[in-house]
Amino acid sequence: MEQISVQPLLLVLLVLMLLGRLSQPWAFPFSPSLDLDVTPRTTVFFKGVLGSSHFSGSSQNYSTLLLEEEAGLLYVGGRGTLYALNTSNISTPANLTIDWEASPEQKKQCLNKGRDNKTECYNHVRFLQRYNETHIYTCGTNAFRPLCAYIDAERFKFSSGIEEGRDRCPYDPAKGFTGLLIDGEMFTASQYEFRSSPDIRRNFPFPTLRTEEAPTRWLLEADFVGSVLLKESVNSSIGDDDKIYFFFTERSQEQIAYPSQTKVSRVARVCKNDWGGQRTLQRKWTTFLKARMVCSVPEYELHLNVLRDVFVLQGRDAQSSIFYGIFGLEWKNIKASAICQYTFSDVQKVFQGPYMEVQDSKWREYTGKVPHPRPGSCITDVHRSQGINSSRDLPDNVLTFARRHPLMANQIHPIGMRPLMFKRSVNYVKMAVHKELALDGNIYTVLFLGTDDGWLHRAVDVDGDMHIIEELQMFDKPQPVESMVISPVQRSIYVGSHSGVVQVPMSACQRYSSCYDCVFARDPFCAWDGRVCVEISSRSQRSNLTQDITRGIRGCKEKSGNVVHRRRSVMSGDDVLLQCELRSNLATPRWTLNGKELQGYGLNSGYRIGTDGLLIIGARVQQSGSYRCFAVENAVSVLVYLYTVTVHTDPFFVVEPTATTYPPTASSPGVSTTGGPTEPPSPSPPPPPARAGAEFQTYRHMEAVYISLVAVLGGLCLVLSVVLLYVSFCTRRPAHSRKFSQQGLQVLGGSERKRSSHFELTTISSHCNGRPGRRSISVPTFADIGDGFLQIVPGEGQMSPAKTPPPAPPLPMPPPLPNMDYVNGLSATLPSVLRKMNGNSYVLLRQADPEGMSPLYHSFTEELNRILEQRKHTGQLDLQPDESSI
Ligand SMILES: *[C@@H]1O[C@H](CO)[C@@H](O)[C@H](O)[C@H]1NC(C)=O
Ligand SMILES: *[C@@H]1O[C@H](CO)[C@@H](O)[C@H](O)[C@H]1NC(C)=O
Ligand SMILES: *[C@@H]1O[C@H](CO)[C@@H](O)[C@H](O)[C@H]1NC(C)=O
Ligand SMILES: *[C@@H]1O[C@H](CO)[C@@H](O)[C@H](O)[C@H]1NC(C)=O
Ligand SMILES: *[C@@H]1O[C@H](CO)[C@@H](O)[C@H](O)[C@H]1NC(C)=O
Ligand SMILES: *[C@@H]1O[C@H](CO)[C@@H](O)[C@H](O)[C@H]1NC(C)=O
Repeated sequence: MEQISVQPLLLVLLVLMLLGRLSQPWAFPFSPSLDLDVTPRTTVFFKGVLGSSHFSGSSQNYSTLLLEEEAGLLYVGGRGTLYALNTSNISTPANLTIDWEASPEQKKQCLNKGRDNKTECYNHVRFLQRYNETHIYTCGTNAFRPLCAYIDAERFKFSSGIEEGRDRCPYDPAKGFTGLLIDGEMFTASQYEFRSSPDIRRNFPFPTLRTEEAPTRWLLEADFVGSVLLKESVNSSIGDDDKIYFFFTERSQEQIAYPSQTKVSRVARVCKNDWGGQRTLQRKWTTFLKARMVCSVPEYELHLNVLRDVFVLQGRDAQSSIFYGIFGLEWKNIKASAICQYTFSDVQKVFQGPYMEVQDSKWREYTGKVPHPRPGSCITDVHRSQGINSSRDLPDNVLTFARRHPLMANQIHPIGMRPLMFKRSVNYVKMAVHKELALDGNIYTVLFLGTDDGWLHRAVDVDGDMHIIEELQMFDKPQPVESMVISPVQRSIYVGSHSGVVQVPMSACQRYSSCYDCVFARDPFCAWDGRVCVEISSRSQRSNLTQDITRGIRGCKEKSGNVVHRRRSVMSGDDVLLQCELRSNLATPRWTLNGKELQGYGLNSGYRIGTDGLLIIGARVQQSGSYRCFAVENAVSVLVYLYTVTVHTDPFFVVEPTATTYPPTASSPGVSTTGGPTEPPSPSPPPPPARAGAEFQTYRHMEAVYISLVAVLGGLCLVLSVVLLYVSFCTRRPAHSRKFSQQGLQVLGGSERKRSSHFELTTISSHCNGRPGRRSISVPTFADIGDGFLQIVPGEGQMSPAKTPPPAPPLPMPPPLPNMDYVNGLSATLPSVLRKMNGNSYVLLRQADPEGMSPLYHSFTEELNRILEQRKHTGQLDLQPDESSI
């Protein structure tokens, strides 16, 4: 019993600790408008990822990818090596390789600089792009002394000498960097050298251009994540108006409403035809402008201020482009991600709006006169007709103005003023976007999101709601996705990471095993053809295909999935687990006995329902019958398991054992259950049959213990709540503290949004590893609190009058690590950190108890072990198996 009581106690204490640190209430319940935790419908582990190809050479850190669709080649820049891979299957042997290691002398110098010779003192390829028809240009860090070179693409060999790369490639493999090579001109953005400040440059041809540092510094500790050329000149009546956009996060210079945050996400732009000024802004950009990109969840005052990656989906023309950004928080120990999307016209509007200016050492909106031509606009035919042929002909007052006004006053807001998607406990780091024409004639946006632990999420935008179709484990060992490109031609995603490159198809419809599975998935690529789930693109005849993206229910005729039929014959008094494996994380189980709904699972009913099965505790003869397990998804019940259970009173009736009803009795439930979904539970050790009467006694005894435990915990909760109330009243403003304590009580009372039945069970899986799942309460509650931290961003007060916000204001410091550990790595309290455990571990989450307050957490396995222990002590242990298949 020790073990049971420790966990809830710990949880309660931690909840209290966490609550105590919250400065604002975290709104409960969640508004239906934005799901803060979209659950991936299915979880596919490494071995289950279909149709993928892997590549790994002798090197590591496959951080740079260049996809050339026409040539059918994927160029890969690794550590000390370059590869040219066949895009149709990157595992195809006979790939081309160029070795490009840093010299031993250079490595030694790097080591002398105090750098890590295991990771840093190598030549990390950072830049790899097409230069001209015959050549590719590449740059590498070369153990902190960057070099660049031309590659003859046909022979895949360096074509000439290696050149100095110090002004065009960062020295550090981990520094933010982005670059473009367009029409023989190279544009890059990074911190190039140890002491220099980050800079956006045109590296060649001459004259090189850079950003201004005085009197107004245009960039402040900028960390770059991406860049894109948008050709506005196409079909333009005014000629060349092509601009390059750079995306980054920097230290905020202006006052912002949330003083806890020191960083802001930005987009900056320059004109491609900028040549710098004549006297003012000589060899500097004359067209540099930057604006803030906002990605907030307004109702939770959640401001995601760090940009991790961007993807620009280019439409028919530049004007129809959509910018997608992955945003996170500046505190590295909080996992959370938001995807925001911005229209080109919204970006454009901000750059055409008012400027900011430093007045009395503060950034304020500039309301005075703006010179002509408007600073930041490109030189077009309109200007040329006025005698301004290039940026060098710009009047001095325009350049002086440009120099002091790099920042726009308005902010760029996302479409709908909110993120397209928010996901807590997950750090997305790379993304790609694809538009797919579905069977209903609509074009759906599909997002491919790579995480910092090597998973790929596929999500579809269904009328503004994101549905994560599945999560795929791309790599055996957790490692961040370092690079990602998408090939509409090969219909593949290529993902680079520390250990290799993986090619996965955009879809793998054969993974859906039944019509319901295929239709419920709402996968725009897939449809049911009456027999199997197929890629729509593979069929020319589509009239017999079934798909329902918008609702995910229509079109299936049969009333069941692939029904598994089993028989169980057990002794009276035994505990029986009827497994019901649900493929979908969004499905809930529903059980019937002889056609009647199994309901009211109180302690006395003798049933417990988990997401993976039904537990019959101390089976009675009248519990014999036909048990059906239905998967309920999108409000449709689909029969998946059918058990015929016979409960005997005669101990000699039992036939030979083939399977057991018991989950493995490992001391830590879950750890032992990493097996695949179809793996039967291991048959050891077989639990004993018991005489019904004594067993019942034992059970009553157990029950009494539970009830008293629950009572104790309930009392504890009450006491702690009172303490919490007291603390919150004493330390917070009254208005806040009320909500605050309500929240506290809610948490302690274990209430959560969709909670209806008296108690619920779920696998540890759905919330371990910071992956809160459906229907769970113990840890998700916890994670909710963890996310509460996302909120420790006070919306008022605390604003420093100083020129720049203080780097680390006292109150909104990132939450201390020990607490957060529980959000991100539950290993400390829970026995296992598995994403989804297919099988035998259960957490009893909540049950109707006398106090109606305290949730009781433990697992089926533990419970069964305990029952076994009890029996052992009461001398009832008998090594006869209790159950068999007939
Ligand atoms: C790619 O090629 C490898 C080796 O030739 C093969 O094992 C693998 O199945 C192929 N992958 C696909 C998706 O065809
Ligand atoms: C890639 O592999 C496919 C099939 O294996 C082959 O037909 C094609 O020519 C290869 N492409 C290149 C560029 O080598
Ligand atoms: C790194 O340096 C240490 C000591 O300077 C040396 O023992 C080790 O072999 C070096 N490792 C590599 C990979 O060069
Ligand atoms: C491409 O650039 C390389 C390197 O400057 C040069 O040697 C080569 O002749 C160029 N090719 C073409 C077709 O211009
Ligand atoms: C711009 O170019 C036109 C024609 O090429 C020339 O007549 C004019 O003097 C130039 N203007 C300046 C300011 O250089
Ligand atoms: C390169 O890969 C190693 C692991 O293989 C990792 O420790 C290191 O951080 C990576 N370096 C970069 C720059 O990503």
